[in-house]
Amino acid sequence: MTDMVSTGSNGAGSAASAGGSLPEETMRELREITARYPQARSALLPMLHLVQSVEGRVTSRGIEACADILGISAAEVAGVATFYTMYKRRPVGDYHVGVCTNTLCAVMGGDAIFERLKDHLDVGNDETTEDGKVTLEHVECNAACDYAPVVMVNWEFMDNMTPESATQLVDDLREGKEVHSTRGPRICTWREAERVLAGFPDDRADEGPAAGPASLVGLQIARENGWKAPERGRRSASGGARGTAEAAAESADTRRAEAETKLDRSPTDVEGGKGSNPEADGKGASE
Ligand code: FES
Repeated sequence: MTDMVSTGSNGAGSAASAGGSLPEETMRELREITARYPQARSALLPMLHLVQSVEGRVTSRGIEACADILGISAAEVAGVATFYTMYKRRPVGDYHVGVCTNTLCAVMGGDAIFERLKDHLDVGNDETTEDGKVTLEHVECNAACDYAPVVMVNWEFMDNMTPESATQLVDDLREGKEVHSTRGPRICTWREAERVLAGFPDDRADEGPAAGPASLVGLQIARENGWKAPERGRRSASGGARGTAEAAAESADTRRAEAETKLDRSPTDVEGGKGSNPEADGKGASE
């Protein structure tokens, strides 16, 4: 990593100490974000998105600006920025193309798409094309498995992709053509998307459907058959045969969970002898 953070002896840096300060307008907006939360430090995640929208990544001066505003150390901010994969320490291109290679997408063609794009773009994972347009990264499940294999462009869904359609997608993006998510919204740049994630809407949140047909099949089948979720309040009030069976099932689940925990521990553990507090012993309950 080339952009290391200098935290100084007490871990707290200055926004002006590494490559100058962020623009005053950005500093004002960073403070504006903190005002949305009862605890200012809760604002750190959207603040980092705003830094990315301005800097194209989380820079040292961005980290130090967040630290100064929140009254925490640069090391604490850097710890957050390096923990979550949506924060980037290396410059991201205009379009972040994330190929889901989690289990379902992988077997449905995600691995093949990723390999094709690596060859086509001549980049590796988490690398950007020479023209600065596309950053390719394999990503984890985006809860869109019903449309596998899925590709994300700046966190907008491209459903049911193939190696061919993915290749066409990145070509269109690099040529500056207007591209839409398969769910409707126009694809903006990565920096624009980061600004939205910072909490500054672009008024396109309602473009496209909230959920596609494949995601709603279960609901449709339930409606056709008149199926409904059990009403918890009514069950406990009536105490009928159905309620009794459900209560027994819940109780059995609880007992089984407790038994499984105890099975992994010695009899002395269960009765409060040595090792009865796995955390205090430096061990998890399942060890
Ligand atoms: S496995 Fe790809 S979206 Fe879930």
